[in-house]
Order: sequence, then C-alpha cells, then structure tokens
Amino acid sequence: MKTCGKIVILTGAGVSAESGLGTFRDTDGLWANTRIEEVATPQAFARDPAKVHAFYNMRRRAAAAARPNAAHFALARLQEHWPAPVILITQNVDGLHAAAGGAALQMHGALSGALCAECGHRWSAPVEMTPRDLCPRCGAAATRPDIVWFGEMPLHMAEIEAHLGDCMLFVAIGTSGAVYPAAGFGAGVARRGIETLEINAAATDVSAIFDRHIIGRASQVVPAWVAQLLDRDPA
Ligand code: APR
Repeated sequence: MKTCGKIVILTGAGVSAESGLGTFRDTDGLWANTRIEEVATPQAFARDPAKVHAFYNMRRRAAAAARPNAAHFALARLQEHWPAPVILITQNVDGLHAAAGGAALQMHGALSGALCAECGHRWSAPVEMTPRDLCPRCGAAATRPDIVWFGEMPLHMAEIEAHLGDCMLFVAIGTSGAVYPAAGFGAGVARRGIETLEINAAATDVSAIFDRHIIGRASQVVPAWVAQLLDRDPA
C-alpha cells in the first residue's frame, strides 16, 4: 500500500491491557466480576448511584496510575508523521492516547469527565465522585461519570461517520467487536471497498470481514506495523 490517504483507526481495551488496565470480556475482564446491568446503564444509576460511582471511582484511580504503552506512543507517532490525516477513534475512557501525545475521539466518554444528568453541563471529574456532588452550573445533585452507558448514543458519531466515509484504510486494534455501533464500522467501510486491517491478540467476533489480520500483543505488533508504514525503525 503506497498511496498515502486518510487512515481511520478504532481502538479498544486491548490497547490499554499492557498498561495494566483490565479489558472487559477477557477471562479476567471487568465484566467477569461485575454485572453490566448494575453499573453501566442509566437504569443502574437511577437505582443505585453510589454503586455506579464506586465502580467508576475504582476505574478512575486505576487509569490515573496507568501509563501509556508502546502501542499508544506508536499511534501518536503515526498521527504525527503520516502524510495524510490519521483519525483515532477510541472506545477507551482512560485518556492514555492523549497521555502518549495522540489525539483521539473518545466515543464512549472519559473517566476524567463529570456530567450533570439534569442540565447536561460537563466539567473535570474529581477522582472520587459521590451522589452528593453538585453541578457547578445548575446546582443539582445529579452528577454522573461522563461515560456513555449501554443504551445511550455514543459521542462524535456524525464526525466519525464522515471520517469513515472518506478514509483509505480502516484499522481496528484491541477490540472484540462485541459492542455496536463501533463493531459495525469495519463492515460498513468494507462494503464500500475500503481496505481493512484487524490487529488483535486473538481472533474476534468480526474478524471475517477484515482483509488482513495481525495477531499479537498491541505493544509489540502496533509499533512494528507503524514502522513498516512509515518505513522507519520502530524505536
Ligand atoms: N494486545 C492486543 N489485543 C488484546 C490484548 C493485547 N495485549 N489484550 C486483550 N486483547 C484483545 C482481546 O483479545 C479482545 O478481543 O482486546 C479485545 C478486548 O475486547 P473487550 O474486552 O470486549 O473490549 P472492547 O472491545 O474495547 O469493548 C468494547 O464494550 O464494555 C463495553 O464500553 C465498553 O468500550 C467498551 C466496549
């Protein structure tokens, strides 16, 4: 592939696994020990906001202690040196792409953000959030993590669809393809004849739709793939 057009990259929890942050659906993943219905739906928050806050406080502490790994840095390097736009779309809420110097559309929100369920105001989240936290704009005690829960519309979808519409290559890295709409991006671009590549530690639910596959741990195979693209050494 020598033409240098826009590349769109979707990342998932597998990219942050080697930074010490658990994935969701691996054997020791977050959903192995916690029920989605109890912490990651608007209904769960209405039912027991303290339980939901405890779950995201735990994840926020872990993310604050985590450092980006070689995969995050390599993707930031590709954004910097590729002679066309490299659009990073992430399902991750840990902020590690930005910590590595990259720029990502966080379609599932961010652990670092707080959102008022009453007026929609957004602000930086304290590490520990409680149901008593008040909105700095409307004063309501309806503060929630700025995370997109199951049954809610992801963020930046119009922008994401536009990028998927004019890219030359679509790459999915470290995602199981279990959650829509992100899991459908690959099939959508493949239908339009755009080249697709899946990079993952193992085959996924959507591997069949991809033209090419690279199997391996993100911190090893992503820097090598970026180096090959940039015709440079992976250092
Ligand atoms: N390198 C590359 N891939 C890895 C690694 C690694 N070191 N470790 C795990 N993986 C792969 C797994 O094989 C799996 O296919 O990463 C994928 C992680 O899948 P999930 O745990 O399902 O995470 P993700 O696809 O990001 O989940 C999507 O689901 O729970 C919701 O909102 C949450 O954004 C999340 C969405």
